[in-house]
Amino acid sequence: MNRRNFIKSSMAIAIVGALPQLILAKQSSTEFDYELIIAPADVNIVPGGSTPALSFNGGYPSPVIRAKQHQPVRIRVINQLKEPTTIHWHGLRIPIDMDGVPFLSQMPIMPGDTFDYEFTPPDAGTFWYHPHMNSIEQLGKGLVGALIVEEAEKPDFDADLVLCMKNWHIKDDGSFTALTSPQNAFRMGTPGRIMTINGEMHPTYDVPAGGAIRIRFLNVDNTLVYDVNSTDPDAQIIAIDGNPIEQPITLENHLMAPGMRLDLGVMSSKEVGKSITFKHKNKPLVTLRSVASTATFHSLPALPLNPIPEPDLNNAETIKFAFEWNANITPIHKDGKVNYNFWTMNRRSWEGMSKGNIPAPLAQLERGKTYLFELSNLTQYHHPIHIHGHTFTVLKSNKKAITPFHSDTVLLGKNETVIAALVADNPGRWMYHCHIIEHLKTGFMGYVEVS
Ligand code: C2O
Ligand code: CU
Repeated sequence: MNRRNFIKSSMAIAIVGALPQLILAKQSSTEFDYELIIAPADVNIVPGGSTPALSFNGGYPSPVIRAKQHQPVRIRVINQLKEPTTIHWHGLRIPIDMDGVPFLSQMPIMPGDTFDYEFTPPDAGTFWYHPHMNSIEQLGKGLVGALIVEEAEKPDFDADLVLCMKNWHIKDDGSFTALTSPQNAFRMGTPGRIMTINGEMHPTYDVPAGGAIRIRFLNVDNTLVYDVNSTDPDAQIIAIDGNPIEQPITLENHLMAPGMRLDLGVMSSKEVGKSITFKHKNKPLVTLRSVASTATFHSLPALPLNPIPEPDLNNAETIKFAFEWNANITPIHKDGKVNYNFWTMNRRSWEGMSKGNIPAPLAQLERGKTYLFELSNLTQYHHPIHIHGHTFTVLKSNKKAITPFHSDTVLLGKNETVIAALVADNPGRWMYHCHIIEHLKTGFMGYVEVS
């Protein structure tokens, strides 16, 4: 199938009801599959006024990029901001030079410059994209979007909804409030006020009655851990953080920290007009309403598993990572001066980097070898720990029973220790950080090197 047909057919299944058309990425020139222009734009989130956001292609929600497993995709990024940026493809196991981290994998894309990303996604599922520079502001103001990798063989769903979760830091007139403060950054982060799905407060989408529906939640927020539940007692978790799980699990509630994804499968009611609501705790996020359709009632299709390398547990080496804070510093001095090196990974805070100054890696990994990362959260806050270029196999926790699953973003609860296996099969210098954006900016960031 050529690219044009591919985009058409994915539109046919993606859009059933009231989903806004603008969530589809436009096809660009023949030369590039997608073109993302990064520029300021006024967007409408609240009825009271517009919001001076940063945008991909002039709006929010950002374009949904649809790639295909095992097929190359090309994305031209044009920076029309007044500051440098890069784009990272969160969760994709692709070569380092396309990973989108300034200085570590590429030079920043300067104002007015263009960078062409090209890669072949090995895994199918729900991923996303965002800048990796000035992240509190660039992500916080809207530069977050979904990247869907279609399965090489498409499972038979009647509808496929992409739902980006973000709490905007805005007032009722649409203007921004503070995206960060030191007090919050040293605790759980600064929450936004306006809870949205695809930029709308509690939207309702039409789905075909009696249809098998795939719902893809993506937490693209800077701060908030969503606790997702549903009014449908039969909603099934079918994939976690992009990766299908072997046995679907009935959704009771599922914690989704920044960076994490959740794919659910639901059968919509055969009766027209019935609805299912998904909530964060008791706050409604989104409602699906069944409308007349020609969907023939069948059951939820199974998803093929991704080819994540199998860890060699017998020959694995354990590496301990302690996530804590620097007890020796006064984070906020009386005179208002702030020491931003607050959070530490193995007693190091991220000192940042520049072209000629790249700090040492947190760990040096041998290519092809299996490692057991022992991730210990010695703090009283949640931390979603994300690794680039690889996917963990999460094995154990000291706080709960775990059926092993794959993830690129491991949520550590308060005082929780998780053992996650990693096959270091992708050479390069890979970022390794907390995905609460204010935490990564105040110490919880580093990288591992695979060679
Ligand atoms: Cu969403 Cu460094 O990652
Ligand atoms: Cu954190």
